[in-house]
Amino acid sequence: MAGRIPQHFIDSLINQVDIVDVIDARVPLKKKGHEYTACCPFHNEKTPSFTVSQQKQFYHCFGCGAHGTAIGFLMEYENMEFVDAIEQLAADHHIDVPREDSPHTQGPDNSGVYNMLELAAEQYQQALKQSQRAIDYLKKRGLSGEISKDYGIGYSPDSWDFILQQGQSQTDIKDLASGGMLIEKNAQAGSYYDRFRDRIMFPIRDRRGRTIGFGGRILDQGEPKYLNSPETPVFHKGKELYGLFEAKKSVRNLHTIVIVEGYMDVVALAQNGIRYAVATLGTATTADQISLILRSVKKLVFCYDGDRAGKKAAWKALENTLPLMRDGYEIRFLFLPDGEDPDTMVRQEGQQAFEQRLQNATPLSDFLINNLQQQTDMSSMDGRAHFAELAKPLLNKLPESIFKDLVNESVSKVIGLHNKRLVEAAPVSQAKAGNAAASKGRHMRITNVRLAIGLMLQQPALLKEAHLPDALRGSEIQGISTLFELYDMIKANPELSSVAILERWREHEMGAYLNKLLHWSIPDAENKATSLTMFQHASEKMLQALKNQRLEALLQQSQQSALNQTEMTELQQLMQRSSSNNQD
Ligand code: UTP
Ligand code: MN
Repeated sequence: MAGRIPQHFIDSLINQVDIVDVIDARVPLKKKGHEYTACCPFHNEKTPSFTVSQQKQFYHCFGCGAHGTAIGFLMEYENMEFVDAIEQLAADHHIDVPREDSPHTQGPDNSGVYNMLELAAEQYQQALKQSQRAIDYLKKRGLSGEISKDYGIGYSPDSWDFILQQGQSQTDIKDLASGGMLIEKNAQAGSYYDRFRDRIMFPIRDRRGRTIGFGGRILDQGEPKYLNSPETPVFHKGKELYGLFEAKKSVRNLHTIVIVEGYMDVVALAQNGIRYAVATLGTATTADQISLILRSVKKLVFCYDGDRAGKKAAWKALENTLPLMRDGYEIRFLFLPDGEDPDTMVRQEGQQAFEQRLQNATPLSDFLINNLQQQTDMSSMDGRAHFAELAKPLLNKLPESIFKDLVNESVSKVIGLHNKRLVEAAPVSQAKAGNAAASKGRHMRITNVRLAIGLMLQQPALLKEAHLPDALRGSEIQGISTLFELYDMIKANPELSSVAILERWREHEMGAYLNKLLHWSIPDAENKATSLTMFQHASEKMLQALKNQRLEALLQQSQQSALNQTEMTELQQLMQRSSSNNQD
């Protein structure tokens, strides 16, 4: 496997590329004042609301809210993964991408875990060949050897130590255990037995095709029917999809993905020529999973049972999809007849008929409206008002888009408010009217931590001399750990640009938050003296808040029990300082 791209290379590449060139080569830009504009490539529009700032090295669409860096643009526009985008940018600039020798020089080294999971997958596949019973089971379920091979299906023998025996060393065994393949015996640390026994094994692969976990189905009757790998350092259920790697690998120009509930559904559909199904892993479909899919395709069909549980799961999926909707996406819901699942259905009626169902599946907007209508009595005025109440928060989840306008219109029609918008235009629409600056940073309360982070992010070069008192490190102030992470990053790499810093946070859960703070308008932040002073004030106030907290705590403690000598001295000092603070 190719090694990791060194961080310093990514940083310097980001500093070398100009977002204007990157975008202009794909979407021709027009210069307008300090910025560049075009019709947004991510949603349908006639008047340009897509702007690119050369100074900030950022793009933003006031119509649909799309935004990001040059790398983010490539990932969105060309459907690329991060690494591919880096390689593309480097190629455009005729630069070679260096690779570090070891693929895991940063973060914890999970290579042993990956290796052992791969070994387990191979061993299960070998064991399948030895078990007539397991082969017969798969045959009975209509699976050919070819599909079983493509999906790496295997068999875990009825043994307590089949996988345990594969470990050649203590390290191997530790890695097998970390990978979720072993269970520790009660009260015997370091003594293990196999988690999966006598089951059909479905390896779960990540985007790169590495085995990260398994689902195991019992052959006959028994509980549980499916056993899944637990959460491990390499396996996070809510972020992975069974079959996505296989779909991407076998379908060229993948444009549609079907989400189903079970492993067997995925492989049965593949067996019948529908190789673009993926399954969630025994949990509700998460927003992470949906956005993972929408990064690869624009058309997504959720497939559920027609029963109540299926409708409920579909509704949850709809709620998770709304905030991710963009113009150009096609999201549908397919409800199967009672008692059927995709596996039984496709085996019964074949590829063509099933694909016909996918074609005719209910569009997201219809599902939304129909479902709300069923909850209310649309013949009465109260009922229609209730309908409007229910629709409002859902519509508010949709980003500004033509799609939102259309749904809005349909909803209004249903309640009889012809041509009247149900949901008032969101701030982004006002921004469209030329009020961009004013809408920035709305919904965000100013705190000292946010101000400090915002300043560092926006002006890393000006703030590299700024100082944060060590006393704040590790304190309980909200956001302080992110502030220190940023602070340490800038101290260690004073040449980092705003965009390069943000890229380092790309996969991080705080990434979106930092992005918001980067675009927060802080008056006069470009001025070095002002920004340093603001930063210093913010840090002093945090320190003061910390002292006040400590003072409170000591005072409270003193009411319950006598303070010791050190605490007493500390309290006195704190009280002196707080009274002198109050005087000025
Ligand atoms: P189903 O019970 O619908 O099973 O569970 P299925 O997919 O139709 O499987 P077959 O056809 O009986 O073999 C759907 C999904 O829910 C999860 C699994 O991911 C399964 O594929 N599940 C189900 C579990 O995780 N554990 C269970 O015990 C049952
Ligand atoms: Mn089934």
